[in-house]
Amino acid sequence: MKYQSQKVALAYFYVAMGLFAIQVLGGLLAGWVYVSPNTLSEAVPFNVIRMIHTNALIVWLLLGFFGATYYLLPEEAERELFSPMLAYVQLAILVVGTLAAVAGYLIGIHGGREFLEQPLWVKYGIFVAAVIFLVNVSMTALAGRKTAITNILLLGLWLLSLLWVFAIINPVNLGLDKLYWWFVVHLWVEATWELVMAAILGYLMLKLTGVDREVIEKWLYVIVSTALFSGILGTGHHYLWIGTPGYWQWTGTIFSMFEVVPFFAMMSFAFVMVWKGRKNHPNKAALLWSLGCSVVAFFGAGVWGFMHTIHGVNYYTHGTQVTAAHGHLSFYGAYVMLNLAMITFAMPVLRGRAPYNQVLNMVSFWLMTSGMAFMTFTLTFAGVVQTHLQRVMGMTFMEVQDQLGLFYLMRFGAGLAVVVGALIFIYSQLVVRREIIDPGPVAVPGE
Ligand code: HEM
Ligand code: HEM
Ligand SMILES: [Fe+2]
Repeated sequence: MKYQSQKVALAYFYVAMGLFAIQVLGGLLAGWVYVSPNTLSEAVPFNVIRMIHTNALIVWLLLGFFGATYYLLPEEAERELFSPMLAYVQLAILVVGTLAAVAGYLIGIHGGREFLEQPLWVKYGIFVAAVIFLVNVSMTALAGRKTAITNILLLGLWLLSLLWVFAIINPVNLGLDKLYWWFVVHLWVEATWELVMAAILGYLMLKLTGVDREVIEKWLYVIVSTALFSGILGTGHHYLWIGTPGYWQWTGTIFSMFEVVPFFAMMSFAFVMVWKGRKNHPNKAALLWSLGCSVVAFFGAGVWGFMHTIHGVNYYTHGTQVTAAHGHLSFYGAYVMLNLAMITFAMPVLRGRAPYNQVLNMVSFWLMTSGMAFMTFTLTFAGVVQTHLQRVMGMTFMEVQDQLGLFYLMRFGAGLAVVVGALIFIYSQLVVRREIIDPGPVAVPGE
């Protein structure tokens, strides 16, 4: 660790990993409710479990982004953080807000609106925390060296924080409500978070492959411009069938088809950098997560997104298990794996444990990734059957659900593999083991 203030990242990563565990365990419980629907139906109803699952996901991913920023910014800007103190205050606000929101959910207090169920005062708290964050990182960046990586990262973080304002605006009219809701949900994952992803991947590639900064920057500019070009008007793929004007069908379809491009570019970027790189960095696990992230993001977001983004297709698949399949693989590939790559990279440095044993970490990679892939396949099959029976044959929702039991059982099994993988990952980070390097035959003096 080159700069003392990078240490704040450690606290962020710890909290992020704690919420990650809660998130996947919540998912597993929700998956069990699909298998055995009356489980806990009085004490903790499905909608509450689901809220905890999805909210924990978003919060830990954001905490991971904040931690990653605090870790890489001092190195890029070549100076200490403006204020480590403010960074801890920001974390405290977010932790209190999250705990209060969860406590509220458990006793049935929430504001509706998927992903944005937090009570209004928590939303204001998050906004305050975001402002503190922006001040802290902007002051650091302005006073130091400016690189393409930090510029893109900060642009993404500024825009995503500003979009949070639309989480606070909640019109009575349901159509308008959805219009604004997607400004947060879609413009996060398919525009601003993509900038964060490109910047962090760029940083990891810089460190892990040793390719020249200029080469990495050129790729980043292509990725960022294609992401914004496609992603902003691509919001239209959520305005296809919700009562918005008809032009959204073509706008949404065409622009969102282009959204595949930045994800393909990120995948090509990662592989070309590794191919061109001369450096043999010892942290192979971080490289595995970085490459895996770019590939699974391409499939989850790019391919599985493309699958239902054309308006004639979405007319049938909207809101079915096809959507859930895409939601899982895209979030996992793009943002979960990105954060795990960064944590894998930074943790041994923050804890002074390099060189370290990466076997458990890599085991968790394969377990989680194959579990997620299997879950995606089962949900996709469930979704296709559901679409056909419900939307083509006209059976009712619950009749169709009765036909899908086997898929839901298999989803639970896949989810179990993901949870075990996640716990192994967390263990491998909490108990970072040093690599025992065999010194080879030792010459005994005097012989
Ligand atoms: C890191 C891993 C995971 C990620 C990124 C993730 C992400 C998500 C997302 C984004 C949603 C909302 C989906 C939508 O609106 O279409 C969701 C819902 C859900 N997830 Fe996960 N999840 C993960 C792990 C799990 C696991 C291990 C299970 C266990 C079976 C699980 C089961 C569920 C269930 C049952 C729902 C509710 C689906 C519904 O309402 O029909 N998830 N998850
Ligand atoms: C990493 C990037 C992405 C993430 C994390 C993501 C996540 C999600 C999630 C969670 C949903 C369900 C939202 C809900 O209704 O509750 C969704 C819906 C959707 N996504 Fe993505 N997505 C990503 C990229 C893409 C891309 C690139 C495309 C198109 C090429 C796409 C196309 C769609 C479409 C069409 C829907 C609406 C499905 C429906 O009508 O039910 N997504 N996405
Ligand atoms: Fe979208």
